[in-house]
Amino acid sequence: MLEPHGGKLIKRIATEEEKKLFLSLNLKKIYIEKDEALDAEKICIGSFSPLEGFMDSETLLSVCRKMELPDGNVWSIPVILQVEDISGLKTGEKALLIDKTDNKPIAVIDITDIYKLNKKEIANTVFGTLDTNHPGVRRLFSKGDYAVGGSITLLNRPSFPNKEYELDPEETREIFKERGWKTVVAFQTRNAPHRAHEYLHRLGMEIGDGLFIHPIIGLKKEGDFDSKIILEAYQILINNYYPHRKVLLAGLSTSMRYAGPREAVFHAIVRKNYGCTHFLVGRDHAGVGDYYDPFAAHRIFEEIPDIGIKIIKFSNVYHCKRCGGIVSENTCSHPDDVITKISMTKIRKALSEGKRPPPEMLREEVADFLIKNFYLVTEDYR
Ligand code: ADX
Repeated sequence: MLEPHGGKLIKRIATEEEKKLFLSLNLKKIYIEKDEALDAEKICIGSFSPLEGFMDSETLLSVCRKMELPDGNVWSIPVILQVEDISGLKTGEKALLIDKTDNKPIAVIDITDIYKLNKKEIANTVFGTLDTNHPGVRRLFSKGDYAVGGSITLLNRPSFPNKEYELDPEETREIFKERGWKTVVAFQTRNAPHRAHEYLHRLGMEIGDGLFIHPIIGLKKEGDFDSKIILEAYQILINNYYPHRKVLLAGLSTSMRYAGPREAVFHAIVRKNYGCTHFLVGRDHAGVGDYYDPFAAHRIFEEIPDIGIKIIKFSNVYHCKRCGGIVSENTCSHPDDVITKISMTKIRKALSEGKRPPPEMLREEVADFLIKNFYLVTEDYR
C-alpha cells in the first residue's frame, strides 16, 4: 500500500486524560466555523498528512507561491484558520478551538504564528481570480483578515450530517488490506452519479483491485446536491450495477474549494492518505463556472513533482448515438449532431421540473430517486 503523503499518517487525538486537562486549563477560546472544525478533524486523523496543524505564514506563502510545504512536500491548497479578532492571542500559548455552531470544543492549538493575510495573493495564486462571484474567493474574503497557525490536537469530533458514512484513513487502509486490494482507484465527486462518472468508475474497476468512491460531504456552494442525496444515489447505482466486491463508498467531510487544478492535486494527496494508489481526474475537475480550462487539472500534474499516487486522466466523456454508448473524445470521432453531452446543469434542470433527464445522461433508477428527493444545498457555504 502507498505510504501517506510525507511518509507518516498523522494522528493527533487527545486521550481522555489529556482532554480533561486541556479543558481545565481555562485557555483562551477561538470560535471557529464548521468548515474549520471539519478541517481540524481531518488534520488530526491524518487525512491531510503531513499537516499537523493550521498553516503558519511561511507555510501558507510556500503553498501559494511554490505549491509545496517548507519541507519540500507538494501541497496546493491553504489550510488556514482565519480569525477576525486576534486580541488576547499570543504565540507560545495554547488556545481552545470551539465550534461556534454548537459550542463544542474541537481542538487545542499550540499557537506559533499570528499573521495578517494577503487575501489577494491567496485568491490569485490558489483560485486564479479575484472575482468574489467565485465561491472559494468569496469565502476567503468573507472570513477574518488574520490567521492563527500552529499544530493542533483533537479533543472532540465535530458534529455534522452524514458522519456515519465517513471512514478515517486508518480505517480505509485497514479495509483495503482486509479485502486484499493492492491497487485502489479513488474517485472524487460532489455530485450525484451520472453516466460520465460511471464511465470513469468502470475504468477504475478495470484497472484497480478496488474502486473507492469518496464524495465530498462537507460544505458546498448553493445549488450543489445535498450530501445525503448523493450518498443514497450512489447506493442505488452500486446496488443495481456494480460488483460489491470491487467498490467501497464513504463520505469525506471537508468543504469543496472549487479551486480546479490546485484542488485536483489536493484531492489526489488526500486520497493517497486514505490508502489509494490511483486517482481519477476527468474534465473540469473541481471546477465552477468557467474559471478554469477544462483540462488544467490534467496539466498541473505535469508541472509538479511526482506525488506517488498515479493520476488517471479522462478527456470529455459523453454519449454517442453512432457508437451506441458512453464514449469519450479520446475514443470516438463522431460529430456533435450524434453526441449528447452530459451536463449536470441540464440534469439538475430536468430533475427540478420533475422530469427524467435522457437515460444517456442519468440512469433511470437514479433519476427516479433524485426526482423524489430533489434537494439542493440552499445556502452558500458560509
Ligand atoms: S468535482 O467538483 O468533484 O470534480 P464532479 O462530481 O462532477 O465534480 O466530478 C467528479 C469527477 O468526474 C471529476 O474528476 C470530473 O472531472 C469527472 N467528470 C465529471 N463529468 C465528466 C465528463 N463529462 N467527462 C469527463 N470527466 C467528467
